[in-house]
Amino acid sequence: MTETQVLDRERIRTLFDLRSSYNARAGGDFTADPYPAWRRLRESGPVHEGTVHELTGYPGTALFQGLPEPDRPHYSAFSHAALDQAYRNPEVFASSPEAVDTTTVSGVTNSMLSMGGDQHRRYRALVQPSFVPAKARWWITNWIEETVHSLIDGFAGEGRAELNVDFCAAIPVLTITGGFGIPVGQALDMREALNRPMEIVEMLRPVVAARREAPQDDLISVLVEAELKDEDGTTHRLSDAEIYSFALLLLFAGSGTTWKQMGITLTALLQRPELLAQIKDDRSKLRPAIEEALRWMPTDPMFSRFVTRDVELEGTRLPEGSVLHLCLGAANRDPARWDRPDEYDITRPMRASFAFGGGPHICLGMHVARAEISTGIGALLDRLPNLRLDPDAEPPRYIGMYERGVTEIPVVFG
Ligand code: HEM
Repeated sequence: MTETQVLDRERIRTLFDLRSSYNARAGGDFTADPYPAWRRLRESGPVHEGTVHELTGYPGTALFQGLPEPDRPHYSAFSHAALDQAYRNPEVFASSPEAVDTTTVSGVTNSMLSMGGDQHRRYRALVQPSFVPAKARWWITNWIEETVHSLIDGFAGEGRAELNVDFCAAIPVLTITGGFGIPVGQALDMREALNRPMEIVEMLRPVVAARREAPQDDLISVLVEAELKDEDGTTHRLSDAEIYSFALLLLFAGSGTTWKQMGITLTALLQRPELLAQIKDDRSKLRPAIEEALRWMPTDPMFSRFVTRDVELEGTRLPEGSVLHLCLGAANRDPARWDRPDEYDITRPMRASFAFGGGPHICLGMHVARAEISTGIGALLDRLPNLRLDPDAEPPRYIGMYERGVTEIPVVFG
């Protein structure tokens, strides 16, 4: 038995079930289809007053980046053109209301996700080389392939499986923690402690100390060896606090997103058996299938920006200090950019969508995410003959407000 198989399936199920209270914070209990509401909103104006979840008709309190911020006015943008403008003007539409303090560790709020301008550029430049397309193979051979095949080994002989939680959920966590040099047994402890960053720091502390002594071929070694250029031109090695903030961001941003996007893609294909069969025979179609799923149903359909001065966006005046929520789910179905935007069509001409955001904060891990999804789905097609949805089980449903995904993916094969 490989190390990966010792993962506790029940614990993974509790941690990753979208309907569990763990994910309710981001609107996990929202079960309706938000796209008809987003279409109406986009048609009646590119920018509206209010948050995306309020405007969509979600009654709960949903937390996400830029929320709740009860003391600020809130606006939401729904058209491709409005989002494009906001992403192109990061000085006016900033990722956080104030400069980021890098001397403490408090989770993602003091990571580069919240930084702006030169500070953001300097920090991002440190890790960017480990996430470029040419590095995808490094991720695949070191961590992704082994994880994917060990997970399939666990159910290949059973003729049936639940792929959402037992397969899709586990791959990104094990990839990113593997990249840190964390043993598989501790990977789920890390995922569980996501809201308690100091516990994660305690797990990372010995790894950082060990890599400072003897660097290896992994991400923590990249971080301990990295030299950050300060504003005055001098350089310094990253402090432990800076390394922990980076690691927390990567863990936070890299594990839940890819899991749910892989589940969305797999479900779209299993619900279209003819398309799945075509992809099985011609793997060049897998990439457009993944890209189209990202456009059609991005797992995170909203990210927010803080408005730094009075400004007009597509005809709406936004006051300084307000929060602008970018509904990239709606923008990805803007008919001004895509014909028949509500259709999942892998043959449409490929045009960049906002699934990974845009501008300077565009997803750092997008090539790793693509590598995980294509390696995962490719291996399922290689190893599980006649893979199909279980006709006797409840079919998968898409749910969630700000962290969208599917309920379960029960399949049979053989
Ligand atoms: C399909 C899976 C993924 C999706 C849909 C996704 C989506 C996004 C989006 C929309 C943003 C921009 C946020 C903003 O504009 O404020 C972002 C940023 C980011 N993502 Fe991803 N992500 C995915 C996977 C990953 C993975 C696997 C990693 C790491 C291994 C990662 C690391 C990051 C980081 C570090 C940022 C912040 C970049 C910056 O601030 O410069 N993401 N992601």
